[in-house]
Amino acid sequence: MTQKILLTESEFNSDLLNIIDSKSLEEIRIKYFSKKGKISQLFDEFRSLSADEKKLSGKRLNELKSFVQSKLDELKNSFPGSEIKDEKFFDLSLPGREKIIGSKHILIQTLDEIKLIFKGLGFSIHEGPELESDYNNFEALNFPPDHPARDMQDTFFVNKNFLLRTHTSPVQIRLMKAQQPPVRAIMPGKVYRNEAVSAKSYCLFHQVEGLYVDTDVTFAELKGTLIAFARQFFGKDVRYRFRPSFFPFTEPSAEVDIWWQPKDKPGRWLEILGCGMVDPNVLDNVGVDSEKYVGYAFGMGVERIALLKYKIGDIRVFFDNDKRFLTQF
Ligand code: PHE
Repeated sequence: MTQKILLTESEFNSDLLNIIDSKSLEEIRIKYFSKKGKISQLFDEFRSLSADEKKLSGKRLNELKSFVQSKLDELKNSFPGSEIKDEKFFDLSLPGREKIIGSKHILIQTLDEIKLIFKGLGFSIHEGPELESDYNNFEALNFPPDHPARDMQDTFFVNKNFLLRTHTSPVQIRLMKAQQPPVRAIMPGKVYRNEAVSAKSYCLFHQVEGLYVDTDVTFAELKGTLIAFARQFFGKDVRYRFRPSFFPFTEPSAEVDIWWQPKDKPGRWLEILGCGMVDPNVLDNVGVDSEKYVGYAFGMGVERIALLKYKIGDIRVFFDNDKRFLTQF
């Protein structure tokens, strides 16, 4: 027995040299301490010895057991992998993980505010698809096929007949086809234009279209509605102006500018929307009697409006997804 104990000890000493990581450490631990491990086997044998023999080898066997155990424990602390296995180890000084909580994008907040104001003015809300037919985007809106006004809006064509809508005005067509007047609705959504990206323009932006068609709608009402909107959105002291303009689908037409006053720089007028009285040709195209009904329409740029309200200098920041910008709102 004593012989076996000595042999096991020397075997363990050479095994020690092979322990290089937590995996090999575990293998050696199993080799000696599992149920059929070398040390367990020695104890099994020990039990069947005579009392005299027990006296002789008992102490040695216990010494071997605690020697192997202490060597393995020592090594355990020198491998980081084995520290993780040790559930008692927990470093309370480690910094916690930051939880980033999202919020509504500033453009969506602006859209929500615009919707709320027009809801208060009696407008319902409708949406249309971003992939549109050439017919709804241009032709029904009184842009004849080769009309130069099509060049005002650089278009992403998907094929000959379909495109990414260049404005939200085609939703006017969809709405009037689906519903006879009176119609009083706003139509928010994304629009696309094939323009060079700059501080002032982007290939994608948002518009809110407005349409009111009934038997007695006037340009004065259009003005009153848009002024009411501007005052509610920008504040009572907002400086605005109506400027004559041209759109194929409205006659007469106008654009509205808002005064933009950056800090320490000269101010200037910034266009935020186009508007006008619905052209009778458009009403005819959707089967609304243009002898009986009149209407007004407007289309505003949401990014422009947000730039003005939050005094932002560059339209591209809306699309960059930069946390430093987004978390300011
Ligand atoms: N659709 C026009 C544009 O994108 C804006 C507009 C809408 C003008 C409705 C008049 C009436 O420029």
